[in-house]
Amino acid sequence: MNAIAIDGPAASGKSTVGYRVGRRLGFVFFDTGVMYRAVAWAVLEQGINSADDEAVGRLAEQLRIEVDAPASDLSDGRQATILVGQADVTWEIRSTRVDSIVSVVAANARVRRELTRKQRGVGLAYGSGAAGKAGVVMVGRDVGTVLLPEAPLKIYLQAPLEERARRRLRELVERGREADFNKILEDMRVRDRTDSHRAVAPLRPAEDAVQIQTLGLTVEEVVEQILALTTARLGVTPSSPDE
Ligand code: DC
Repeated sequence: MNAIAIDGPAASGKSTVGYRVGRRLGFVFFDTGVMYRAVAWAVLEQGINSADDEAVGRLAEQLRIEVDAPASDLSDGRQATILVGQADVTWEIRSTRVDSIVSVVAANARVRRELTRKQRGVGLAYGSGAAGKAGVVMVGRDVGTVLLPEAPLKIYLQAPLEERARRRLRELVERGREADFNKILEDMRVRDRTDSHRAVAPLRPAEDAVQIQTLGLTVEEVVEQILALTTARLGVTPSSPDE
């Protein structure tokens, strides 16, 4: 199976790195976190209490979430277009409001059951080539441990909390958002704890994951490390960076 699992904490670089790895290999890139964010967005939109397990679970089971390749005329930096029903929520799911409740929503067992089923289906289809693609790069928190434990290459990205908070601040500023470093740091600390200590599918490296400390490395250096591992494990050769 041509599947690469990339897990790690918030702002560890999973999607930036995973997206580029996918492009170099001609693999589909699938960021599983966007689906948890889409449920969290809908929770806020409908005024549901995020701690109400029953209501949040029911919502996740009813919600129509679509993750599509961006239309070719869109050049706003999106990696994918995320729809909830008819609404394009691609940027709204990145708000600090969503950030602040998404890890509680992602700890909900019914939400996880629903999204795990869908995400594993997508991973198996693309990973096996059945969907007409060369393979899949899936990123999240539980890809190597739960979603696709059969992936022949599993990566766990790490970076210190302060460095990850700096990266998130930079991202928000680049998008013209107001942001406060200390608030981001505190929110991320809480989110790390919730993601790592939840009962279902907590964030942790799979036993056979290759752990990469990204502090002091450029994005391209991390990408090259993963591509070298891909060639060794999957026998797939990447295209050159500027193709
Ligand atoms: O990677 P991210 O920050 O966009 O993820 C948003 C939230 O979703 C995060 O709190 C953890 C959760 N998540 C998860 O529990 N399992 C995944 N496979 C992906 C994300």
